[in-house]
Amino acid sequence: MSAEQLGLVRERIRGFPDFPAPGVLFRDISPLLKDPEAFKAAIDLLEAHVKDKHAQVDFIAGLDSRGFLFGPILAQRLGVGFVLIRKKGKLPGRTESVSYTLEYGKAELEVQSDAVEPGQKVILIDDLLATGGTMRAACELMSKLEAEILDCVVLIELKFLKGAEVLKPFPLYSVLQYD
Ligand code: PRP
Ligand code: ADE
Repeated sequence: MSAEQLGLVRERIRGFPDFPAPGVLFRDISPLLKDPEAFKAAIDLLEAHVKDKHAQVDFIAGLDSRGFLFGPILAQRLGVGFVLIRKKGKLPGRTESVSYTLEYGKAELEVQSDAVEPGQKVILIDDLLATGGTMRAACELMSKLEAEILDCVVLIELKFLKGAEVLKPFPLYSVLQYD
């Protein structure tokens, strides 16, 4: 991983104390998205990890909504398709659903039942891992579809919340970590 690329990413993430609830330090990626060089560095780092670790990938699955900012670009870079994992009530047709709790609330995620075939190799992506509740729910959804989960990938990991523990046995890769 290039220290220069990582520096570009790190300096474009800012913290907002007590948002959206008291005690939460919100890590805002808006400056990163506004800076094409830093945004590209983030995608480059995600792409390098996936290409280094996974010889064959069938789909990138992105988590609603900030996973949609990174997932489709990464999927295009890899030449694979993108799958939507959405909050409840947004997807038509037959769906699977899983409830979960996150750092500041409770919600339900869904995926279309025909999104992937049993045995297909999937990488899950989101902007940030906090408690791991959201990513864990996405893993459960993919497991219901009998997909093979290769990796859970995020740009930012809030280490002190120990979300990686919640994901086990599925692996986690994060570009940036905060203690
Ligand atoms: C944020 C973030 C992750 C999740 C992480 O999404 O984008 O999906 O929280 O928290 P957790 O690890 O504690 O589950 P949020 O639900 O706020 O939705 P958004 O992406 O639509 O803003
Ligand atoms: N999602 C959950 N916790 C978060 C945080 N601290 N900053 C940004 N997004 C989050």
